Amino acid sequence: MKVKYLRKQCLEQVLAQCSGKAGALKKEMSLFDLVLLGLGAIVGTGVFILTTKSSIEAGPGVVFAFLVAAVACILAALAFAEFASMVPVAGSVYKYTYITMGEVFAWMIGWTLMLEFIVGAASVAVGWSKAIQDLLALYNISLPQALCSAPGIIPGSYFNLPACVVVFLIAALLWVGVRQSKKANNVMAVIKVALILIFIFACFGSIKVYNFTPTLPMGVGGVFTAAATLFFAYVGFDLVASAAEETKNPRTALPRAIMLSVGITTVLYILFALVATGVVPWKVFLEHKDMMAVTLATQLTGKWLIGLIITMGLVVGLAAGVLANTYSQIRLLFCMARDGLLPQCFCALHKKHATPMHATWIAAIVIGVLAGLVDLNILADAYSLSTLFAFAFVSLGVIILRAQQPNLPRPFRAPLVPWLPILGILINLYLMSRVQVLSSWLVFLGWMVIGVPIYFLYSCKHSKLGN
Ligand code: ALA
Repeated sequence: MKVKYLRKQCLEQVLAQCSGKAGALKKEMSLFDLVLLGLGAIVGTGVFILTTKSSIEAGPGVVFAFLVAAVACILAALAFAEFASMVPVAGSVYKYTYITMGEVFAWMIGWTLMLEFIVGAASVAVGWSKAIQDLLALYNISLPQALCSAPGIIPGSYFNLPACVVVFLIAALLWVGVRQSKKANNVMAVIKVALILIFIFACFGSIKVYNFTPTLPMGVGGVFTAAATLFFAYVGFDLVASAAEETKNPRTALPRAIMLSVGITTVLYILFALVATGVVPWKVFLEHKDMMAVTLATQLTGKWLIGLIITMGLVVGLAAGVLANTYSQIRLLFCMARDGLLPQCFCALHKKHATPMHATWIAAIVIGVLAGLVDLNILADAYSLSTLFAFAFVSLGVIILRAQQPNLPRPFRAPLVPWLPILGILINLYLMSRVQVLSSWLVFLGWMVIGVPIYFLYSCKHSKLGN
């Protein structure tokens, strides 16, 4: 007897559904655009803001922590690249799971991804709000206390207005069209990469080798704690797969873009960490927990102008993370609605702009309200939890599909299957166990609990596959 909850989409049908003319998204993305989409989503709050926290946890050994986090992401990226080359459709992991494990699992992973993109966009929006407020403070301009941050973060605060505003500005851009959003994202991503390079070149000459000793003041354990924190800094390459249906030559472009964006980021981050810890003594990080590593390094070396340029650049650059996450959220809603698991309004396209109109604004309202009301630490950890969970599913999916359909054409093949994906799953589960903020676990588990009845009461009955 076939269990209806485990019905699976067949790969050929999925590809046919997405290649139809009516209701299709425009093909606007090249390999270059995809790499910049990846860099725009990856580089941001993590490397610029969390390097201080992780340098305190690991000392100069933070360079190794960046490497460990990179390994976890590269293992997941290989699995993503294999799937993206085989199943180049919007909805990424959700769709891969629908094909390999069945509908109820696909629903759960789609539901988890929704959380990932919502809290991802909201957390970067809160990071952006901090960057703009820091910049305004340099000119002695401050916002009313009530509108500076989420309730209870500072006395008298009720709502993070800048975070909410940036979400709506980005949503307006996404609503107008992919071409415009793509151009804006490319500019923002280039700015962020340039900021890292400016920092590396400006401060490289000021490295003092004695700052690298003791290399591991908190032991090897400190390196792993820092790696769990820095995982956040690498997340975002998975969003590249969301652009599958808008990509020219997706079977080759997607895996290349995923591997390129993770590879470029890894090199940049390790150089960044080397320079930061070579210039700033570990004790200085300990004494200035709230300051960005770039600010500390540029102040110690007297390079004030470089510090100012980086702070200003961040205000522009961080908005790219909001864009990439909101974009992925909208594409996921579109894809799940097209399968009947969500109401049809989510896949309605705007007549002129050909973008999913209701999905765009509903996503903006949810993300904007969350960014206004929730603390960054809770958002960032909930983001890591949901992403790690999704990554584990992708690695599992690769193993299952290799066993079920070994002869399917795979333009990109992840190496050493099943061993590398198994290692990836274990690392993901281990890093999940390192997330210690209780409220983030509550958000994650609460979200999953809400998802189950929605599937059984609505999605299962309206599933196009079922009907
Ligand atoms: N990797 C993204 C960032 O650091 C989430 O902002």
